[in-house]
Amino acid sequence: LFQIVFLTRIEHFNASHKLYNPDWDKEKNEAVCGKCGNVNGHGHNYELHITVKREVTADPGFVVNAKNLSKLINEFVLEELDHKNLNLDVAFLNGKMCSTENLAIAVWQQLFSRLPKGVELHCVKLYETPRIYVAYFGK
Ligand code: NI
Repeated sequence: LFQIVFLTRIEHFNASHKLYNPDWDKEKNEAVCGKCGNVNGHGHNYELHITVKREVTADPGFVVNAKNLSKLINEFVLEELDHKNLNLDVAFLNGKMCSTENLAIAVWQQLFSRLPKGVELHCVKLYETPRIYVAYFGK
C-alpha cells in the first residue's frame, strides 16, 4: 500500500510586467501580446499554488513541515517577486519573457532543489487572473 500524499500551500503576490519581444515591430507586439504588451506595463494579483508530495509513514506522519515550506517559498520566491517589476527587478527572470508560463518554470527552479530531504515538488500552479492559470510539473 502506497501512501503518497500531496500538500499544497497557497500564496499571493502582486507584481507588474510587460510582455514584449524586442525582435517584433509595434504592430506584431500589439497583435500577439494585446493589453499585456502595454508599453508601460501592467499589474497582476498572482496566486501561487505550490504542491509537494511524499509517502507518509508512521514517522513523522506528515508530508512536510508546513511552516518550513512557507519559509522557503517566502525566501526564494515571494521576497523576489512581490511588489516587483518582473522585467527589471528579478535576477532569476533576467533575459526571459515574463509570461506566466516562464514565471511558473522559474518558480519551480527556485524551489525544487531546496525542499527538505524526501519531499518532492509536484506542481507549480500560477494564476494570473482568477480564471487563467498555468501548471508546471517539472517536465
Ligand atoms: Ni499580464
